[in-house]
Amino acid sequence: MAKSHYHDVLIIGGGAAGLSLALRLADHASIAIITKAPDRNGSTYYAQGGISTVVTTQDSFASHIADTLQAGAGLCDPEAVKFTVEHGPENIRWLEELGVPFSKESLTSGQRKLHLTREGGHSQRRVIHAADATGKALSDTLFNHAEHHRSIHFFNNHMAVDLITSAKQGLSTQDNNQCIGAYVLNKKSGHVETFHARYVVLATGGASKVYLYTSNPDGSTGDGIAMAWRAGCRVGNMEFNQFHPTCLYHPEAKSFLISEALRGEGGHLLLPDGTRFMQRFDERGELAPRDIVARAIDHEMKRLGAACVYLDISHRSAAFIASHFPTIYARCLEFGFDITKEPIPVVPAAHYTCGGVVTNLQGQTNIDRLYTIGEASQTGLHGANRLASNSLLECLVFAESASKDIIEKLITPDKKFKIAPWDESRVTDSDEEVVVSHNWDELRRFMWDYVGIVRTNKRLERAMRRIKLLQHEIDEYYSNFRITGDLIELRNLALVAELIVHCAMARKESRGLHFTLDYPPADESSIAENTILTPETYLPNENNL
Ligand code: FAD
Ligand code: SIN
Repeated sequence: MAKSHYHDVLIIGGGAAGLSLALRLADHASIAIITKAPDRNGSTYYAQGGISTVVTTQDSFASHIADTLQAGAGLCDPEAVKFTVEHGPENIRWLEELGVPFSKESLTSGQRKLHLTREGGHSQRRVIHAADATGKALSDTLFNHAEHHRSIHFFNNHMAVDLITSAKQGLSTQDNNQCIGAYVLNKKSGHVETFHARYVVLATGGASKVYLYTSNPDGSTGDGIAMAWRAGCRVGNMEFNQFHPTCLYHPEAKSFLISEALRGEGGHLLLPDGTRFMQRFDERGELAPRDIVARAIDHEMKRLGAACVYLDISHRSAAFIASHFPTIYARCLEFGFDITKEPIPVVPAAHYTCGGVVTNLQGQTNIDRLYTIGEASQTGLHGANRLASNSLLECLVFAESASKDIIEKLITPDKKFKIAPWDESRVTDSDEEVVVSHNWDELRRFMWDYVGIVRTNKRLERAMRRIKLLQHEIDEYYSNFRITGDLIELRNLALVAELIVHCAMARKESRGLHFTLDYPPADESSIAENTILTPETYLPNENNL
């Protein structure tokens, strides 16, 4: 008999978004946090640069809002931007109270204050950080608190397969559909268990693993976005995939990120002959927003046939570099580069999914009792391009607002639903796992080649054709064989790839991170529409192919 679990709130994902939400809810509800990895994981753990927020009198909410809107290239929701920016400082205070060891500097008065670094697109120094390992400091602190709270129950090595809704279970009509739990693969036992919950929150992170080269860890396979879509949620702006301009170029580095803060602290981008080039593309030079810098690097690499460009911070003192960037310094040394003395070879890599599950300011989706927060969501904050270090901020602010909404609703009495257990009576063990790994590689490679930094209609059509073929094989495999973690992720990646290409085909302009040779850059001050897809009315673009 498959296991069942009952909690007030099921949080799928243990990154900044999921952990913050759990801590905010824990005194009011019993919480299950499921994460598909064995230990601390998710992009949060690897975040480097920091968290943007307004903490000095030289800075202002208006300035942070203006920078965010400008990076977003006409597609941010101004209300979501204002909401996020204005709730930033209270969230940083909350993290300080929890004990996150942010970097500080001493004033002449002897007092210590938060050290602020700078990143592309910010007109001010406003990025709070813990040296160059902000994500680790944040994760460790949140985990340590969550692990000791008796209302929070961790289920590591558990992978959500699909959401359970009352409509899909035949317990309600589509009109009063609500999310009532999730089917979850226990990766140790190999069985699918049922998690019942009054509220379900997707905090599953992004989907950058859909590309061959990415700064993201293994789990960024868009599971939450795919599950939400299958359950009937609206998904938007999937064409806006952010490529970080500077990942270490080394065959064994697995796209190790070189933080934008390095450029914020004076790092120069160089061509292989040692000349700077960013001023030719944007007057803000190395500190232009990411879409511009990544495209400029891509352009120069293609023009010169170069395998990489270089990032040089060696003109700063060795002591400064080692104290501000200890992780990057040590990691580069492991690969034979002493960044205090020489430039670092760098290339762009997929970094952040700006689109996702459409939510309101409380993280609520269009399905009752289902929330999405963090990178998996599309709140309206990022528009066509996310401003650096606004992601962790969004995780924190929306965890806080979702928690308030859920706490308020928890008071109302609950209706219990009887959920049918997962049926695996008609499947067998696969004898051809190689099909899954082969399809993974193929998908990620053609997404990189055809749906990357520079797109064309023809490349998008090619990608869509291949996605359809892969989906056919994956569906067949999914129906006949016992599911595995790799198969679930592949199925989700293929769906997310389809949504990305579909949105990209629908946008007949170049804007923000969506750059196509077939349409000229839009006037970014012009009114533009977000690309919002609804499962009920979705028509795959097969007729375009
Ligand atoms: P994640 O931290 O990615 O966590 C996702 C969680 O969901 C994981 O626990 C995972 O196991 C779980 N999960 C996923 N699918 C399933 C499933 N099917 N079942 C169960 N569990 C599942 N942003 C900034 O603002 N500042 C920075 O300095 C910064 N630096 C970055 C550096 C790197 C190298 C990277 C990769 C990203 C960086 N970002 C930064 C982006 C930012 O880190 C992420 O957007 C943010 O951490 C996402 O948090 P999250 O909680 O939404 O998801
Ligand atoms: C970085 O440190 O460059 C990453 C910051 C971000 O993704 O916001």
